[in-house]
Amino acid sequence: MRFKSCFFFLVMMNSGKLFAEDKFCDLPHVENGRIAPYYYSFKGYYFPMRKGKNLSYSCAAGYTTETGTQEGRITCTVKGWSPVPQCYKKCTKPLLEHGIFYGTETYFKIHEKLQYKCNQGYHAPSGGTEDTLQCQSDGWSSQATCTKKVESCQVPELHHGSYFTTQRELQVNEALLYKCDEGYHTAGGNATEAAVCLPHGWSLTPKCSKKTCPSLGAIEHGGFYPVKKIYEEGDVVHFFCEENYSFREFDLIQCYYFGWYPDPPVCEDVRNKCPPPPLPPHARISADRRTYHSGDRVRIQCQSEYEIRGSGEIQCEKGKWTSPPICLEIQQNCTSPPAIKNGVLLGPLLPSYTNGDSVEYGCQRYYILDGPSTIYCEQGNWTEQPTCLDPCILNVTDMNSNNIELKWRQEELIFLHGDLVEFECKQGYKFLHTTETSPGRTRCDRGRLKYPKCVFQVPVEKCDSPPSIANGALTLPPLTQYDNGSSVQYSCSDYYFLQGSERIYCSEGQWTSPPLCIEPCTLSKDEMEKNNVLLESFYENQVYFYHGDYIGFYCKQNHFGAESGATLFQVQCKRGQLLYPRCVERRK
Ligand SMILES: *[C@@H]1O[C@H](CO)[C@@H](O)[C@H](O)[C@H]1NC(C)=O
Ligand SMILES: *[C@@H]1O[C@H](CO)[C@@H](O)[C@H](O)[C@H]1NC(C)=O
Ligand SMILES: *[C@@H]1O[C@H](CO)[C@@H](O)[C@H](O)[C@H]1NC(C)=O
Ligand SMILES: *[C@@H]1O[C@H](CO)[C@@H](O)[C@H](O)[C@H]1NC(C)=O
Ligand SMILES: *[C@@H]1O[C@H](CO)[C@@H](O)[C@H](O)[C@H]1NC(C)=O
Ligand SMILES: *[C@@H]1O[C@H](CO)[C@@H](O)[C@H](O)[C@H]1NC(C)=O
Ligand SMILES: *[C@@H]1O[C@H](CO)[C@@H](O)[C@H](O)[C@H]1NC(C)=O
Repeated sequence: MRFKSCFFFLVMMNSGKLFAEDKFCDLPHVENGRIAPYYYSFKGYYFPMRKGKNLSYSCAAGYTTETGTQEGRITCTVKGWSPVPQCYKKCTKPLLEHGIFYGTETYFKIHEKLQYKCNQGYHAPSGGTEDTLQCQSDGWSSQATCTKKVESCQVPELHHGSYFTTQRELQVNEALLYKCDEGYHTAGGNATEAAVCLPHGWSLTPKCSKKTCPSLGAIEHGGFYPVKKIYEEGDVVHFFCEENYSFREFDLIQCYYFGWYPDPPVCEDVRNKCPPPPLPPHARISADRRTYHSGDRVRIQCQSEYEIRGSGEIQCEKGKWTSPPICLEIQQNCTSPPAIKNGVLLGPLLPSYTNGDSVEYGCQRYYILDGPSTIYCEQGNWTEQPTCLDPCILNVTDMNSNNIELKWRQEELIFLHGDLVEFECKQGYKFLHTTETSPGRTRCDRGRLKYPKCVFQVPVEKCDSPPSIANGALTLPPLTQYDNGSSVQYSCSDYYFLQGSERIYCSEGQWTSPPLCIEPCTLSKDEMEKNNVLLESFYENQVYFYHGDYIGFYCKQNHFGAESGATLFQVQCKRGQLLYPRCVERRK
């Protein structure tokens, strides 16, 4: 819309000369005819047309151009379309009894004449034997009739009047005198009248009519029929115009008790007829008559938000409208751009902003811009401004009351809008809604943070299966759950030393510490041989010793302890390790 009007404006500015001097012809209005449909659809594109351009139009069925063809061609001239496109009603040869037409044509174009002759003993309405009809824009000028000639005339019944004779029949050329009552007039319009019996009947059939409509004066460039001195109520008068003239509106008037209605028409020069008034873009027109003639004026107004350039009134001058105004979009300025909360106007800062100007916004630290960073001045209003979304500042009081703490410790307790914040429960607490996969996660939303809540964890009283130990086992097969206070017993594999309590207890969901099974020491004959030691007889045949046991050794004969010089030793088994004493041979 804006673009289009801008374009229109530019065309006006840059080629004003061309516009003013070369384009004369608007979309023609063809009554009872039309031009190709696309001209109507793309009216704004094709019109006004340039001088020298040709256009075809076609007349509706039953109508022809002035030259009698179905299609006509018009050329754009300085004075508008030439010839003015017109479609005339075709006249068809009427039926005629007791007479013949001259010529054989069946169809007649406008202004063409048709002459006929009545048979012997018949006469035309004029009284003669011949008459002529003319094809007018609305049909034949009169009816073609041939009526029988009479030998005598019958005296008709007379209302509201009286005859001066009682004779009931008159011979040709005899006259019949009659008078009308007060307030009535004779066929000729007088109080008394002599009707003459003519070969085709009464000169004026005796009749007394109520006086109503006055006679009609001659009209310029046209005529009417029937012509009477006095017209009675109900009489219809048909007007016609000469070539190049036509009526603005009706061509029929009727005599009513109050007079003529409508007023007798006027023949106007069609060469001065204007096409429908031009409608510039974004304009409104106040009149919508079908035809316009020289001197007619039409008001053109612009739609709201558009201002007019040029005269708001155009006039039809000899078939052409004076140049119409154009409608330009009103350029509204904007006030200084609005400040936004927690935001900054990045600029540009100008004393005033016109249509289409833009400014850019940013946000303060920690605030997130939401919406367009650039806003525009559009017809006096700024487009929608962005907002700066608040960050979330963690509230330690709230965190403490919810028994939560940050999962990932950080220095500043501030998060930007949209950030994911992860909390965990304080020791001994757990999340309320454990169905959620990550109950500790929450997102900062415009400064608001939904703190997750942790509650004191009620100790579990029951215990799961007791722990298994290395080199040992439970004395009884384990259960899946144990009650508070129940106990289980362990035993170690053979020769393994049980350290701690062989029985453990379930206490508020936790087992007391299970025992350890410490490996035994295995006596090595090789090591004994290497160290020249023998096992005391008390331990004879023993291979395994418990952790903590003491084992007695002595040196072989002629040997003594390498370090102490002693020959008897006590060594303790420590977690499977035996420190063998070493004996060496006594030197002689
Ligand atoms: C319009 O028609 C006339 C003759 O009818 C011809 O001389 C003229 O070139 C035509 N104009 C255009 C633009 O075709
Ligand atoms: C009507 O009367 C006037 C005079 O009174 C006369 O001049 C005129 O011819 C008469 N018209 C007719 C049709 O008799
Ligand atoms: C009617 O107008 C045309 C074109 O202006 C002209 O050529 C023609 O002579 C006019 N006819 C009469 C009867 O004036
Ligand atoms: C808008 O501003 C321009 C330039 O600052 C000025 O020429 C114009 O008159 C102003 N328009 C209105 C409607 O105030
Ligand atoms: C500008 O804003 C005013 C008030 O909000 C409104 O009435 C007017 O229609 C707006 N103008 C445009 C062009 O949007
Ligand atoms: C923290 O929240 C509590 C209430 O929930 C409020 O009273 C207190 O002012 C807040 N502290 C800060 C620093 O905003
Ligand atoms: C669980 O048992 C221990 C002793 O084994 C006892 O002190 C404690 O009160 C019991 N707890 C409950 C909740 O009964």
